[in-house]
Amino acid sequence: MTKLLRIDASSRRHSSHSRELSDYFEKLWREKYPDSQVVVRDVAKEQIPHISDETIVGFYTSPDKFTPQLKAVTALSDTLIAELKSADVLLIGAPIYNFSVPSALKAYIDHIVRANYTFAYDGTQFTGLVSNKRAFVCLAYGASGYTGGSLQPFDYLRSYLNLLLNFLGINDITFFSVEGTTTDPLSFESTRQKALAEIKQTLS
Ligand SMILES: Cc1cc2nc3c(=O)[nH]c(=O)nc-3n(C[C@H](O)[C@H](O)[C@H](O)COP(=O)(O)O)c2cc1C
Repeated sequence: MTKLLRIDASSRRHSSHSRELSDYFEKLWREKYPDSQVVVRDVAKEQIPHISDETIVGFYTSPDKFTPQLKAVTALSDTLIAELKSADVLLIGAPIYNFSVPSALKAYIDHIVRANYTFAYDGTQFTGLVSNKRAFVCLAYGASGYTGGSLQPFDYLRSYLNLLLNFLGINDITFFSVEGTTTDPLSFESTRQKALAEIKQTLS
């Protein structure tokens, strides 16, 4: 059975455009793969705490030297990494906040990017340990011009998520996006129709 892990990051519960794209993707996914398991990790609704001093000590301590306290502070990371690794497909929905990912998503990322669990370093190069996965990413931008326009150089959302997924070993990534959600109704509606059509085409 295929497992889809859906990660939502918009702080907005209602009228969220990244959630609209992910909702549509999930709906078509369930229709196409009725036996698929869908797991939802909403990092805006159930916020992941920032990593602490103790968490970092735990990340750099060999598990055979774990104290009960280090085991406790790395338990959430263990859970999130197991959830990520058990998924076949990722569906990530995220808005651009101040040119990058929302801090709720960054807090999640800081728990799942972990040496010897999701990436390895041999002293020379890094290797991603999260392999054999496909990722679909639904993005929402308040302004227009991030996709091929004048704001493209300031897009640290798409470029960052692309880099991060590659770093973890995920190279098969498809992006869908809407632009101008707060500034430009015409651009918004045309990018919205385009993104919905691309999702439909992807899952046809
Ligand atoms: C805290 C915050 C920061 C934002 N920063 C940006 C930004 O840097 N660039 C931009 O184009 N839009 C920015 N926006 C607008 C959002 O990206 C836009 O409203 C988007 O549609 C939000 O995603 P959602 O519809 O899924 O909630 C920001 C919105 C908020 C709340």
